[in-house]
Amino acid sequence: MAIQRTFSIIKPDATARNLTGAINKVIEEAGLRIVAQRRILMTEGQAKRFYEVHAERPFYGELVEFMTSGPVVVQVLEGEDAVAKYREVMGATNPEEAADGTIRKLYANSIGENSVHGSDSPENAEMEIRQFFSQADIIG
Ligand code: CMP
Repeated sequence: MAIQRTFSIIKPDATARNLTGAINKVIEEAGLRIVAQRRILMTEGQAKRFYEVHAERPFYGELVEFMTSGPVVVQVLEGEDAVAKYREVMGATNPEEAADGTIRKLYANSIGENSVHGSDSPENAEMEIRQFFSQADIIG
């Protein structure tokens, strides 16, 4: 597996509890490198676009509202097999199903307020990175 990039968001429930550093520590200890990072307030338009694939889901409105409710940290992570690696490090979407030691097991409040997002494929990673970063922002 070659070096790959994935897109990560530290969500409002985590920034509210001052967990950015704690989550970054788990990311770095797993061997992933944070090659771009910015703390932002997501606009409604950005959140709607980002989660467009979930537009028909019953939780879409709630999800957009949550993601715009406070600061988030958008990140680009780099490493060997980064997409799959980060999904492993995050743990299952529902924290009740997440494995011990994963970010969601450690920190998530619920399936909605689950502390982090990570891309589910290399193709989506590229699209998601492009929504929030330009090439010049990424210092590998
Ligand atoms: P994320 O990886 O950011 O991608 C989609 C998000 O939708 C997911 O994490 C969850 O936070 C959220 N989500 C998924 N299922 C539910 C649900 N049943 N209720 C509320 N939010 C959900």
